[in-house]
Amino acid sequence: MTRSTPAEPGLSKPKTFEDLFSKGLLAVVREDYGRVGSFLAHSVDSRFDLVPQVVRHLIDAGGKRIRPVVHCLAARVCGYDGDGHIVLASVSEMIHSATLFHDDVVDNGKVRRGRPTANDVWGNQIPVLVGDFVFARAFTIMMDNGYFQISRHLGRTVEDLVQGELLQLTHAGNPMLGREVYDEIIRCKTASLFSWCGRAAAMISDLPEERVEALAQVGHHFGMAFQITDDVLDYAGASVDTGKGSCSDLAEGKVTLPLIVAAEQDPSIAADLQVLLAAEDEEDPALAESIAGRVVAGNAVSESIRIAEQHVEAALGGLDAFPPSTEREALAELCRFSLSRIH
Ligand code: FPP
Ligand code: MG
Repeated sequence: MTRSTPAEPGLSKPKTFEDLFSKGLLAVVREDYGRVGSFLAHSVDSRFDLVPQVVRHLIDAGGKRIRPVVHCLAARVCGYDGDGHIVLASVSEMIHSATLFHDDVVDNGKVRRGRPTANDVWGNQIPVLVGDFVFARAFTIMMDNGYFQISRHLGRTVEDLVQGELLQLTHAGNPMLGREVYDEIIRCKTASLFSWCGRAAAMISDLPEERVEALAQVGHHFGMAFQITDDVLDYAGASVDTGKGSCSDLAEGKVTLPLIVAAEQDPSIAADLQVLLAAEDEEDPALAESIAGRVVAGNAVSESIRIAEQHVEAALGGLDAFPPSTEREALAELCRFSLSRIH
C-alpha cells in the first residue's frame, strides 16, 4: 500500500488556506468549491429578506469553507462522480454557520472573521432565529434529496455539537478538567462535523460499512488536529498573522489543551485562573498575561502540537486504506496544513 507522501521538500509550506488553492494542491476541488458557493447563495431564501441578509453577513466575511472542501475531497477519494456531494458539502457549511450564529450569542462574541458578529449588529434574537432557520433548511434539503440515513447521522452530529458546547460551558474556568474531558469537548464541538463530512462522502459513494467508518475516522482525526491547532494558536500566535496569540480563550474562561498541560505542571495556574475569572467585569491584563506567559514558557505548546501531530498521523494512516489518487494526496495535504499553521 502506498503511503501518502509529504509535500515535496523545498516547496514553501502553505501558510494560509488561500495558499493551498493558489499553489494548486486543492485545484482538484476548485470547481466543486465554486458550485458549493452557488448552492449556498441560493439555499437560504426566505419570505424575510433579513434571513439571507444576516447569513450573507457571516458567509461573505470569508469563511474558509473547510468542511465542504473535506467532504468534496473525501467524496472524490471514494471515486464518487455524481452531484450529491455538492448538496452535502453545502449542508455541512450551513450547519457550521448555524452553530456560529448560536455560538457567538453563547460566548457574547463581538468579532468573527474580522467583522462584527451578527449579534453585535442585530442583537441576540435575530441571529438565534436565523441560526434555527439555516439549521432547519439544511435538514429540509437533506430530506428533499432523499438522504435519510445520512440525515440520521447528521442529527446525531448536531446533538454532539450542542453537547460539546454544554460540556465546555459547564467546565469553563476549570483547568483541572483533564485531557479526557477536553478531548470529548473538541470531539463533540469540532471533530464530529468533520467526521460526518467523511462519513457522508463514503455513504453517498455506497462504500461498505468498514470504509464508511474509516473515512469517518479520518474526518474525526482531522477535526481533532484542527481544533488543537486553533487552541495552540490562541496562545502561541499565528505565524501568518501578528506572531502573537490573542489569548481570547483565556479571557473567555475557555480551558484548552495548552492551559490544561501547563496547569498539570504548575498548579498555581489553576488558582490564578480562578482569581482572573472571579473578577468578571474588572479586567486584570497583568494576571492574564502572567498566566499566558507561563503557558507559553513551559512545554505545554510543544506537548499540544505533539498530540495534534498524532491526530494528523492517524488521519493519514486512515487515508492509506483508500486507493492512491490526486484527491487522496490533496486531502492528506489538507491534514498536514492544519499543522503547518503552527510550524
Ligand atoms: C465554536 O467554538 C463553536 C462550535 C464549533 C459549535 C457550537 C455549537 C453550538 C452553539 C450549538 C448550535 C446548535 C444548533 C442547533 C445550530 P469556539 O467558541 O471555541 O470557537 P470560536 O473561537 O470560533 O468562537
Ligand atoms: Mg465562540
